[in-house]
Amino acid sequence: MRKYLARGVAAGAIALLALTACSERSGDGGGEEAGSAKGFAANSLIGVALPAKTSENWVLAGDLFTNGLKEAGFQSDVQYAGATSTVADQQAQISAMVTKGAKVIVIGATDAAQLTTQVEQAKQAGATVIAYDRLIKNTKDVDYYVAYDNFKVGQLQGQALLEGMKAKKPNGPYTIELFSGSPDDNNSGVFFDGAMDVLKKEIDAGNVVVGSGQKEIKQTATDGWKAENAQRRMDSLLTSTYSSKTLDGVLSPNDTLARAILTSVKGAGKPLPVVTGQDSEVESVKSIVAGEQYSTINKDTRNLVKETIEMVKALQAGNDPKTNDTESYNNGVKVVPANLLEPLIVTKKNVVEAYANDPKLAPLTTGAK
Ligand code: BGC
Repeated sequence: MRKYLARGVAAGAIALLALTACSERSGDGGGEEAGSAKGFAANSLIGVALPAKTSENWVLAGDLFTNGLKEAGFQSDVQYAGATSTVADQQAQISAMVTKGAKVIVIGATDAAQLTTQVEQAKQAGATVIAYDRLIKNTKDVDYYVAYDNFKVGQLQGQALLEGMKAKKPNGPYTIELFSGSPDDNNSGVFFDGAMDVLKKEIDAGNVVVGSGQKEIKQTATDGWKAENAQRRMDSLLTSTYSSKTLDGVLSPNDTLARAILTSVKGAGKPLPVVTGQDSEVESVKSIVAGEQYSTINKDTRNLVKETIEMVKALQAGNDPKTNDTESYNNGVKVVPANLLEPLIVTKKNVVEAYANDPKLAPLTTGAK
């Protein structure tokens, strides 16, 4: 099994923190972290703290949590971080949920490393903390992680990029550029590592060449997952590197950035490269059907929210929530027990089947075959 060690945490520091963790707070009788709220009133308050609406999945998640928690009989407090003071907003929102007595706090972190104080408060107040989609780093006070397997997402993106380029041009070498997500989101590194797990051997063998030479995650990052930042970087790469060279493919970590990259290439009047994505956003599904964006990933938000609510229900009933991975997601202090769902790669080839049971996306796929 893979181990995702949080970046930038020295091994010694981890050992020390792990020791401290052992000496604090003894069990709640249920085996998991101390202070976890299990077996609480059926109409308890559940807090859901989501990041800024940087992609459609977050917008969907908010509504699904509000409705799903209500249907399950809970009270809910669903909050989003604002677009600018994202970290401070989320910190304040989580603290407020603790004060209001939330029994479970579900968190899609704006910044993986900046919630230590808030999750500690939550645990001290007896709440259970579930990291949703994005792992929370450098703290023992996160009980569970629920997400699509994000390393697998990256691997699927790397494979799709290679397959897409090969389908267009049977023989390499292929020239590509790499983009990654926002550095404060733990997923950005996981997606990138997954993709490089597939691409690195091709790069080392010379079958794939990163035209600009920018192969380090720092060089490829997109602050705040903002489209304008990806578009600006692509504009400058096209000017610096592709005045005469052909760009065959671009690794894009999500759909918002994929469309920004395609906009930049179109603006420069260049042929469209193979571009990957993620999230099954409406405009990207249309673009795939139209033969522009090459791929996306289906991480159906409906299932992720449903699984999360199932975990909350298990806790409410006094049971251990479902987890299926207790090895992979090390947050720098502990391995967080995870409930991982399988992501699905979507290209024009399987777009019809992929969204057949999605009333919003299925109508967009007619005409794909
Ligand atoms: C999510 C992606 C999303 C990105 C930007 C990531 O943490 O896993 O699905 O595209 O955030 O919102």
